Amino acid sequence: MEDILQRVVELNLINDEQPSLDVFDVDYFHGRVDSLKSAFPEPFFYHAMAVKANPLRCIMKLGLEKNLGAECASLQEALHSLAIGFPANQIVYDSPVKTIKELETAINNGFYINLDNEQEVSQVGEYLKTYPGTVPVIGLRINPVVGAGNIAMISTATPQSKFGLPLTKDTCERILSLYQNNPWLTAVHIHVGSQGVPLTKFVDGANVLMDFLTNIEKVCPGQITTVDIGGGLSTESAEPEEFQYIQYRRKLEEKVPVLFSGKYKVVTEMGRSLFLKAGTSFTRVENVKDWIKDQNPIILTHLGTNQFPREAYLPHIWRHRFTLFTAEGVKKEGDEIMVDVGGPMCFQGDYLAKEVSVPRPEIGDIIAIHDTGAYTMSMYCRFNSIRASPVYGVKKNTEGRIQVLCYKERETVEECMRFWGRSSPTPVE
Ligand SMILES: Cc1ncc(COP(=O)(O)O)c(C=O)c1O
Repeated sequence: MEDILQRVVELNLINDEQPSLDVFDVDYFHGRVDSLKSAFPEPFFYHAMAVKANPLRCIMKLGLEKNLGAECASLQEALHSLAIGFPANQIVYDSPVKTIKELETAINNGFYINLDNEQEVSQVGEYLKTYPGTVPVIGLRINPVVGAGNIAMISTATPQSKFGLPLTKDTCERILSLYQNNPWLTAVHIHVGSQGVPLTKFVDGANVLMDFLTNIEKVCPGQITTVDIGGGLSTESAEPEEFQYIQYRRKLEEKVPVLFSGKYKVVTEMGRSLFLKAGTSFTRVENVKDWIKDQNPIILTHLGTNQFPREAYLPHIWRHRFTLFTAEGVKKEGDEIMVDVGGPMCFQGDYLAKEVSVPRPEIGDIIAIHDTGAYTMSMYCRFNSIRASPVYGVKKNTEGRIQVLCYKERETVEECMRFWGRSSPTPVE
């Protein structure tokens, strides 16, 4: 990390015009994708990256170069993936709420679509009656109701979940009849949840799904070609260690062997576990306030709720590791004190974290926020019109020298303010 920051400083990439930035470690990300693929080497496994985790074009291209597909939470993400070059049939269109127009566009483009509910099934059924083209793979999201992990907000397999159709004793027949009545429904989809869901629940979810699939096979033999087991594997920001995909494979193989039979194409949709630890954010310590005795000094930085809304609003759940460096990029050593790390926004809750242990900070120091490659820039917030940081890819060349590539410039004032609409009203009637 120190070598990367020193290169960033040498290139003068932290300055008054851009006092914060993100770096994305290309070699690390490649390693993650390779480990996912080597855990599932069978040719019938297809891995889609969850675009919502990090939709930067250059980062998505890294995934595309490694033959990942793209899992998309909106039609915009799907069209973005198509424009970047992902083949249409490897774009998984999973949006939780879709208009009929969006569904039609997705079908016309040949995306793999996961429907959410019976209304979408009937809308698509109507459209397909006169659709002249080839029908893409279309599935239905099923909630296997295997229960929550320890973060309710991102646990999607409870009876209260807003996602998909809940599979229970009472609903099983209804879901089966959707497959029977719509022979173009050729896929099944689950996504049990994200961070905080234990591995066993992902495996339980796949197990429930495959049991249900045997029922579908009884009434519509051979109709299902594709099984999408979702993403979601936990990766802790509080730990330097990374989750190993091979553990997931072993558990699936033990409990759900049919997934490995080759009978079905199996799709995964990893986000956080692929991207998180490839990213680091750096921000300059702009001020240090230590006026009140017996209270943590407060350091003011350029990153807070703008790029880290989860961390600011739910600090007991989302927390990063931090390291403090000098302005020259040298790791600070010495006795540590507790500080509170404040962001640039105009409300008192805007802290990246409190009670962070670092050597005594000084104005001009640089603080590194580790593990920011997923769900940080993609959650960027417009409040207070703070301009988003630039993002750089970093990788080692053959001589071991760190190469820095610009993936995204710092947002300009004009780009930032465009969000706030027209300068004068235009009549609409
Ligand atoms: C349908 C779906 N697939 C995949 C993902 C990716 O999850 P994660 O980043 O936790 O792997 C999500 C996350 O929200 C999702 O909703």
